[in-house]
Amino acid sequence: MTEAAPKKLHIKTYGCQMNVYDSERMAGLLAPLGYALTDAVDDADMVLLNTCHIREKAAEKVYSELGRINKIKEARKGDGGTMILGVTGCVAQAEGEEVLRRAPFVDMVFGPQTYHRLPEMVARLHREKGAQLDTDFPEESKFDHLSAPARVEGRSAFLTVQEGCDKFCTFCVVPYTRGSEFSRPVDQVMDEARQLAAAGACEITLLGQNVNAYHGVHDGGELGLGELIERLAKVDGIERLRYTTSYPAEIDDALIAAHRDVPELMPYLHLPVQSGSDRVLKAMNRRHDRAFYIDLVARLRQARPDLGLSSDFIVGFPGESDADFEDTLSLVRDVGYIQAYSFKYSPRPGTPAAAMELQVPEDVKDARLAALQDLLNTQQLAFNESCVGRTMPVLLDRVGRHEGQLVGRSPYMQAVHVAAPAEWLGRIVDLRIVGAGGNSLSAVPDEDLRERKTA
Ligand code: SAH
Ligand code: F3S
Repeated sequence: MTEAAPKKLHIKTYGCQMNVYDSERMAGLLAPLGYALTDAVDDADMVLLNTCHIREKAAEKVYSELGRINKIKEARKGDGGTMILGVTGCVAQAEGEEVLRRAPFVDMVFGPQTYHRLPEMVARLHREKGAQLDTDFPEESKFDHLSAPARVEGRSAFLTVQEGCDKFCTFCVVPYTRGSEFSRPVDQVMDEARQLAAAGACEITLLGQNVNAYHGVHDGGELGLGELIERLAKVDGIERLRYTTSYPAEIDDALIAAHRDVPELMPYLHLPVQSGSDRVLKAMNRRHDRAFYIDLVARLRQARPDLGLSSDFIVGFPGESDADFEDTLSLVRDVGYIQAYSFKYSPRPGTPAAAMELQVPEDVKDARLAALQDLLNTQQLAFNESCVGRTMPVLLDRVGRHEGQLVGRSPYMQAVHVAAPAEWLGRIVDLRIVGAGGNSLSAVPDEDLRERKTA
């Protein structure tokens, strides 16, 4: 990230103490995006008028002030610079449309009810102008995995096909730190897959912050993720495909069809839901509700009956009540996961949720996380135990801790331990599962198959 001078923010506040308070909050919300307050409107990069509607004269004053600021904005444009001009407060609330009609040069109009969405609005404006935001969000966080360049580990490889996120979940920094959604062209992805296969990869995991938003250019048109997967499955040497992380509202029919038609696509899907409560999902700005998610899971399972699901959950999102949390537990019971990640909500400065009222106390978050993880662990163990007695293809890609032991991955990403000859390392071998724990399986070589191989 390039070090730029901090951007300057000028807020002009009209009216009551409420507005004074809101202006302070807005300055606080914009600080992580690199905006520092200035008293001088002339050198501001962003000007916000926090307006008052109490008397007609007050509103009229806003319009004449806007006209004056637009002259500065125009002069700035003439010099090749930009200025963002926003109107908030009660005039914006009462006559938002009118503001845009009378002052079309205004970039954003938002009422006091929605000023917590200011970071999102500003990030979107910067993107439209093709400008980068110099945020002071920490570059790396445990929630913000860097999409890694293609690399082969053993016979498994990661291949980035998509980057960035336009979804603006209200708890998440990724749309600010990683920028807008971008898909790599199909030919580039195919070339890289062939190179990975030539370098020994038989399993490829397609990566993207929002991987199923993939729409790569191809032959003057575009291909979605489902079509990309169909093509990748035909690359010589590729025996297993996976993708992560996906956004439920954007799983389309072609991708569901790929789960049905492409045997190389592993029967395992990470499908983050975050919460089982419609109220919380809405406050999170997720674009799915509980019913949509449950229906999506049913459609995926119809296409691929042996599909195993994983997910991400957040407990203690602002305003989450006991009943909301119960909805999450009941969704977990309804869907049934074979594995999952769960997090306590952690306020990230500059994201809309961090400014929401009703933050949940830490001890409540702790208790909810423990209850959720208890349930998820029970489901994971039950799934692992249900594998005992089955024969599964396992990609043996590591030597184990014990002498003569190899470790691999099942189609469901379970770690599988087996006593096996060293030359099996790097192969996909059918193994009979004989034991299960919470986090791994143990297996023995499938006798029938061994006989067939040696015969
Ligand atoms: N699509 C992205 C998701 C990144 S965030 C990717 O995997 O690259 C990964 C998970 O971290 C989210 O699904 C969410 O469950 C969790 N998370 C993100 N921000 C969080 C926050 N502020 N507090 C708690 N959990 C968060
Ligand atoms: Fe973050 Fe939501 Fe995108 S979790 S990465 S804003 S889909």
